[in-house]
Amino acid sequence: MRQHSWAEPYKIKAVELLKMTTREQRDAAIREAGFNTFLLRSEDVYIDLLTDSGTSAMSDRQWAGLMRGDEAYAGSTNFYHLRDAVEEYYSYKYTVPTHQGRGAENILSQMLIRDGDYVPGNMYFTTTRLHQELAGGTFVDVIIDEAHDAQSEHPFKGDVDMAKLDALVDEVGAEKIPYVCIATCVNMAGGQPISLASLKAVRAWCDKHGIRLAHDMTRVAENAHFIQRREAGYENKSVKDIVYEICDLTDIATMSSKKDAMVNIGGFLAMNDPELYEKACALVVVYEGLHTYGGMAGRDMEALSIGIAESVDDNHIHARVGQVEYLGNRLRDAGIPIVLPIGGHAVFPDARRMLPHIPQEHFPAQALAAELYRISGVRAMERGIVSAGRDSVTGENHKPELETIRLTIPRRVYTQAHMDVTAEAMIDLAEHANQIRGLKFVYEPKMLRFFQARFEQV
Ligand code: F0G
Repeated sequence: MRQHSWAEPYKIKAVELLKMTTREQRDAAIREAGFNTFLLRSEDVYIDLLTDSGTSAMSDRQWAGLMRGDEAYAGSTNFYHLRDAVEEYYSYKYTVPTHQGRGAENILSQMLIRDGDYVPGNMYFTTTRLHQELAGGTFVDVIIDEAHDAQSEHPFKGDVDMAKLDALVDEVGAEKIPYVCIATCVNMAGGQPISLASLKAVRAWCDKHGIRLAHDMTRVAENAHFIQRREAGYENKSVKDIVYEICDLTDIATMSSKKDAMVNIGGFLAMNDPELYEKACALVVVYEGLHTYGGMAGRDMEALSIGIAESVDDNHIHARVGQVEYLGNRLRDAGIPIVLPIGGHAVFPDARRMLPHIPQEHFPAQALAAELYRISGVRAMERGIVSAGRDSVTGENHKPELETIRLTIPRRVYTQAHMDVTAEAMIDLAEHANQIRGLKFVYEPKMLRFFQARFEQV
């Protein structure tokens, strides 16, 4: 079944034309954007690898699904399709749609976290941690140490270090831990999977302590693909079955369906506990919309339920991760330092090693992303000290070990030639990396600063 190369199991039916820019135009654009790639206009970008979120190409079936939108305020047919797809593919009985992942994170955090609680997780994600903090909680990182080491080739860098979980419960007590939050294919670690062995150990630990297990399932299909390839006993299981098994081990899920499920907007909170579902329905009407649409149009729920089915297809995910690995291998073969193993949704060039002359306080990854855009029109995202933000109590900068840029590949959008151009741009960049200058803030937003911060060169 998976013997062919990673070539795509689809052909192209419509294309979107791109504008080509000159280096002078891009130089002006990145200065105007305060050296922050989030502040560029997308029409000035050639190959947009900022994020895989909401940027994927829908299939003809999904587009056809849009025409079947039932835009009733209450009880839309498309809601029931979505609910059934979530139960069929992801196991969860109750689904509350939200406008995107962070809407679900908000509701989950408000429902379960009390002032002074601790929420352990396998590495932070920006919006997830902020919602936990806004609800009065403190995030505690319990991922294995290897996840913080760009050069470790551990096959499951998303695994949980059980000793860290034990230490937390000894220190604060189980009653201060409302849930453990496990992400599949950990974004900030470089798109690194958690093994089923580790997830089962966390499940047993949660049962022992009477603590709930929540699942950030944003990239669960990519995680399942790595389990199929790397975890003993799963080589003959389908991605669909592995996805189901992962979800079935957890109690609650938050989903940004803008990633795996290949829609441009949408998400949900899903769970098995009817009492929790009742609470979630009460909250969703305040922040998102009625519990049968939660901030999504009927048509978008339809496209999502179709996208869920497409996302767990073995051939799809093989091509998806294959393309990411193709780019990663080209960079690695050219001697460019990247986070290893190559992740599921993106390649993460290591700014620490590419720009050893720039101290972390001068934002080497931010500077690298700006320069990549300037020379090539390829847009990446900083994933280092700027993204990590400040400690909510001390106000000090978090200083993550991983200081990277993220070349994030949208699903079903770019071709192998686009990957080649990106690799060539990174190789050009590496050749003059020693001339790149660090940056300093001219504007630093208080929350999620990476989105809107502005910089100038030091
Ligand atoms: N969890 C993970 C692991 C994510 O990667 C994201 C979003 C979210 C939650 C929040 O979901 O954006 O739909 O509200 N990640 C995007 C990214 C923004 O570029 O990595 P959202």
